[in-house]
Amino acid sequence: MLRFETAGESHGECLVATLTGLPSGVPISIDAISRELWRRQQGYGRGGRMKIETDTAEIVTGVRHSKSTGAPIAVIIQNRDWKNWTEVLPVESFPGDAEKKKPLTRPRPGHADLAGAIKYNLPEARYILERASARETTARVALGGLAKQYLAQFGIEVLSHVIQTGTAQLGRPASWEEIAAHAQREEITLGCVDAEAEARMKAVVDEAYRTGDTVGGVFEVRAKGLPIGLGSHIAWDTRLDGRLAQAILSIQAVKGVEIGEATEAATVFGSKVQDTIHYDKAQRSFHRGANKAGGLEGGITNGQELLVRGLLKPISTLRKPLESVDLETREPASAAYERSDVCVVPAAGVVAEAMVALILAQAVVEKFGGDSLKEARRNYDGYIQQVKEF
Ligand SMILES: Cc1cc2nc3c(=O)[nH]c(=O)nc-3n(C[C@H](O)[C@H](O)[C@H](O)COP(=O)(O)O)c2cc1C
Repeated sequence: MLRFETAGESHGECLVATLTGLPSGVPISIDAISRELWRRQQGYGRGGRMKIETDTAEIVTGVRHSKSTGAPIAVIIQNRDWKNWTEVLPVESFPGDAEKKKPLTRPRPGHADLAGAIKYNLPEARYILERASARETTARVALGGLAKQYLAQFGIEVLSHVIQTGTAQLGRPASWEEIAAHAQREEITLGCVDAEAEARMKAVVDEAYRTGDTVGGVFEVRAKGLPIGLGSHIAWDTRLDGRLAQAILSIQAVKGVEIGEATEAATVFGSKVQDTIHYDKAQRSFHRGANKAGGLEGGITNGQELLVRGLLKPISTLRKPLESVDLETREPASAAYERSDVCVVPAAGVVAEAMVALILAQAVVEKFGGDSLKEARRNYDGYIQQVKEF
């Protein structure tokens, strides 16, 4: 079983992430992880925080001489902003520390602030904000960077792009090559592969900036090189579609998930939706008439490209704050404002890539097992041969 966990707070010392169960012998590049972290930080519409942080991953366990050892891998990412928060969030109390606190007493609608403070019985929401913040997704992206390197050993790649902000849409399918080329770019983009559509999407983000508002949208994650047979129909919690959906929905501000052409499928007759089955006798292989299912049938990968989309709400912290209540006085008050982004769809797409990579890596480990990469590869190669002979 491949397990992963994150710890860390938005303004704390650092973020910590662990990955347990990765076989030994997987080549690991820290540069590749840093590149993923960089991609998460970019994106048209990000706020001031990204100017403070330049994330770098430090691997402290489980990788030696650029290869996994089979032991749990622990990654640390320092928070550069911590130097401004050492007296605000000390681990141990010190005399006079109450004066240094930055209580969040006016909970922000759309955040975990109020429900979290009540649930954890805290007088104000500072500690809730610290953990609920999407800063945590930095740790997920670092782990996703490890998962991607494992998947690459089996020829599996995962990418994302932005297909909508507000009402501005890409409006056409994007090829794998376009998405891959876009992911290589060094400048700050909105993550859309089409220059004309990106200009329309940027205009929506600019309008949100101007008016003190925020805007959501839709990202698409794709994965190719998947063997037939990851995930299983045999039980509700082994279905890969359900596991991917949970992974995507666990990303802060993601409120909807679509697998394949689910939205379109819900509006048309069944004869237009299924991917017909064909067989090439010369090649001795099956192929499909389309890929509306997004590469999954019955919760099992069917060998086609995986396609998963995430729908983001506009982020909740507004420069023009919404109505709230002061937790001390219980009087009406404007919600607190902390430095904030305007549009996070491109960053959320990168986080979603990481989550998809982690879930796929879990499925690969489950199916092919192995304590070493060599053993996993042997199992994988044997299975691919069996599929060919089917
Ligand atoms: C990459 C990323 C960055 C985010 N940045 C902000 C932000 O700057 N301000 C904000 O209000 N919400 C931001 N969010 C969303 C909040 O973290 C999220 O809405 C909040 O924790 C409540 O969770 P929920 O929306 O999933 O219910 C961000 C989300 C992501 C994925």
